[in-house]
Amino acid sequence: MRLIFFLPLLLLCSCAHQTGNTQKLQSQVDSLSNKLAHSYKPGFGDFMLGIQVHHAKIWYAGNAQNWPLVQFELKEIKEALDGIKEFCTDRPEVSSLNMMDGPLDSLANSAKNKDLTSFKNNFIQLTNKCNSCHQITKHEFNVIKLPDSPPYSNQEFKVK
Ligand code: HEC
Repeated sequence: MRLIFFLPLLLLCSCAHQTGNTQKLQSQVDSLSNKLAHSYKPGFGDFMLGIQVHHAKIWYAGNAQNWPLVQFELKEIKEALDGIKEFCTDRPEVSSLNMMDGPLDSLANSAKNKDLTSFKNNFIQLTNKCNSCHQITKHEFNVIKLPDSPPYSNQEFKVK
């Protein structure tokens, strides 16, 4: 008799407990989604600033025939391009990024073959690609050229 009285009450309690848990989880999910939406994500321009520095360093490293440094800086550019693909998915310009693959591979070959003449030619090809993309993506006012002076005074480009 008593059991018949308590059983529905017990079920009701456990149901209410479940609902409480779901609400708690939902509010945790909401708070995490909110945090994620407002967390810092590097923008296209942030990656480009990095690429600009690596571009200049490649020029000084290559002219000093510091081939390991050229390879390292090329890898950094590739990583930045991967970063754009990962973090800037809302930017239509992402679809033009693969135009960099050819010139980057050619430069890597010049470094591998320690070939200064082909390095210089391929560097000009790479720079032209930077500008073609800026043109097709309506950022033609960002004009990239061969650097006149090293990007930083505190880095040695010559081989030790
Ligand atoms: C896929 C197309 C594409 C390629 C390839 C590309 N860029 Fe860009 N670049 C852009 C876009 C788009 C912007 C504008 C980014 C923004 O909205 O902030 C930009 C901006 C820049 C800026 C301005 C950044 C600033 O805040 O002052 C520099 C510098 C730059 N790019 C350098 C380069 C260099 C150097 C290369 C080649 C090694 C290169 N870019 C290749 C698309 C490209």
